[in-house]
This record gives sequence, structure tokens and C-alpha cells, in this order.
Amino acid sequence: MSRTVEVIKHHMAPAKPTAATNQKRPAVRSGTFAIGGDLPVHRLGFGAMQLTGTGVWGEPADRAQAIAVLRRAVELGINLIDTADSYGPYVSEELIREALHPYPKGVVIGTKAGLARTGPSRWVPLGRPEYLRQECEMSLRRLGVERIDLFQLHRIDPKVPADDQFGVLRDLQKEGKIRHVGLSEVNVAEIEAAGRIVSVATVQNQYNLAYRSSEDVLNYCTRKNIGFIPWFPLATGDLAKPNGALMRIARKLGAQPAQIALAWLLKKSPVMLPIPGTSKVKHLEENTAASLLNLDDSTMEELANA
Ligand SMILES: NC(=O)c1ccc[n+]([C@@H]2O[C@H](COP(=O)([O-])OP(=O)(O)OC[C@H]3O[C@@H](n4cnc5c(N)ncnc54)[C@H](OP(=O)(O)O)[C@@H]3O)[C@@H](O)[C@H]2O)c1
Repeated sequence: MSRTVEVIKHHMAPAKPTAATNQKRPAVRSGTFAIGGDLPVHRLGFGAMQLTGTGVWGEPADRAQAIAVLRRAVELGINLIDTADSYGPYVSEELIREALHPYPKGVVIGTKAGLARTGPSRWVPLGRPEYLRQECEMSLRRLGVERIDLFQLHRIDPKVPADDQFGVLRDLQKEGKIRHVGLSEVNVAEIEAAGRIVSVATVQNQYNLAYRSSEDVLNYCTRKNIGFIPWFPLATGDLAKPNGALMRIARKLGAQPAQIALAWLLKKSPVMLPIPGTSKVKHLEENTAASLLNLDDSTMEELANA
């Protein structure tokens, strides 16, 4: 391609979604949700935890593949990427920067702080305000941004007054270091307590077809227009198994089980923002194509009762 054509292309407005662009960028079809009312994302996102080493510790076995997954995610129309300081630790954020910086317009990176890592598969809540502030500063540096789009408190640390943890998030927002605030693994009372100190834009709780104990939190978020980010949307792969409970419905619809699990989530609430994780381009492509499925009411019910 000549340099002139490249320059023209660079300045062209993004194409309006058409059938062809939808096929190339299927995440667009998952619909849009505005985080905090002013930060629009396509609802099907990507979780970048699986890009690190075993036990979410250290470097990935295949670094080139991890970079390829992130770049392909954006090509597919994904513009919400979830990560955390503790994934690796630091490795996931560093990979995101390496793969995508300078970030294409509209790409939203949500990160988290509040869990210290003391070894592979070991996570320790650590919510002292000075630590949360340090981790925010370090994520700004690692991600290469002046402001973090979405900064989530990974866990409320029971050893530290919750209001102090919410308070430092409010301060960081006032200082312009973070745009929106999210919480993770919280109940309705905790969201309301945080909401008295800082505006809560998203909640990230474990939720999938097979694990629905946060149904009340989801309903609350839907009513309040708070983004609900279900982690383990595929039950860490169990819902994607070819011989799993979803296979019969998947066969009937000519889809893969993982796609059914994700389409069910997307249909469940307009505030639902699934972030399936994978270390493989093939699985990423398969998962993103779930945006093209629209389950009818009877299939939704059949799945809920399966
Ligand atoms: N807030 C929290 O406390 C919290 C906790 C955990 C996770 N999270 C976030 O939630 C995101 C999602 O969770 P997750 O990644 O652990 O679990 P998940 O999305 O439920 O499942 C990921 C697992 O499923 C496999 N998989 C993905 N797509 C597949 C497909 N199409 N077919 C077959 N297998 C497939 C992956 O293996 P392959 O790599 O082989 O594809 C991986 O082992 C994380 O990346 C992270 O951002 C947050």
C-alpha cells in the first residue's frame, strides 16, 4: 500500500456497521453499553488473565500467541479489555501495552488493584489506601496512559475500613488518574456503601450459566444501569466442553457450547459485559462470534433450567 493511501485510510471515519463489517468485527453485534454513562464499549469484551503463566504467575508459555490474541481481539471489534495488576503479576498489563499501545481510539482497558500475589495461584486481599494508590500509579506507567478508563477494586479487604478503600478511589478519580470506578465480588449492600462515597460504574462478580449466586446483584445493576462484568463466563472452560450440558442446544443451533454460554449472558441483561478469557486465537474467534447469536425466549428458559 502506498504511503498516501495509508495516510488517507488513517484519517477516514470508521465505517458504519454493515453486514460485511459485522462479519469481520462480530463484537460490534453484541451491542453497546456506556460505562459510567459516557464510555461506550461493545458488550462482548476480553479478559486478559489467561495470557499469563500457569497459576496466573509469570510469563506465558507462548508470548507471540498472547500478543496475537490481543491484536486479534481488537480486529474483531472488541474494545473492552479486562486486566489487573495482579495478573502475572504485571505481565498481563505489560502484554497489553506491547500489543496495543498506542491504543486505537475507543479501546477501553479496565484494570484492578487490591490483591497481592504471594505465589502461583495465591491471592491475598490488600486494600490499604497507600497500596491501592501505588498500584494505580504503577498501572498508569505499565499501561502507558495518563488516566485509567476503569479502575476496579479487586476485593474489599476485610482488614481495612471499607470507606478508606472507596475513599482512595474517589481521590484518584478527583485527581484525574482514573475515569471510572468498579468493584469486584461485592453484594448489594457493599455497592450501596461504596456509592455513598464514589460513583460505581461497574461490578465484576463470578457469574455464568452454571453459577448464578449473584443474581440479586445483577438485577440491582440492571435497574441502576451499572455495568455487570461476569467473571468465569465459561466456568473456566467447563461450559465450553464438547460433551457438556450445552452440547444438545449448541448442536440444534449449529453453534459451539462456549458460544451458547456467552449468548445466554448477553441476552440476560443489557448491562451484561462478558469478558471470556483465552490464550488461543481460535477460541477468541469462536467466542466473539457468539455476538452473532440471538437466543429466543424458549431457548433462554431451556438453558436456565438445564
Ligand atoms: N474479578 C475477579 O476476581 C476475577 C477472577 C477471575 C477472572 N477474572 C476476569 O475474568 C476473565 C474471564 O475469566 P477466565 O478467563 O478465568 O475464565 P473463562 O472465561 O470462564 O474461561 C477461560 C477458560 O476457558 C477456555 N476457553 C475459552 N474459550 C474457549 C472455547 N471457545 N473453547 C474451549 N475452551 C475455551 C480457556 O482455555 P484456552 O486458553 O485453552 O482457550 C480458559 O481455560 C479473566 O480473564 C479475568 O479478566 C476476574
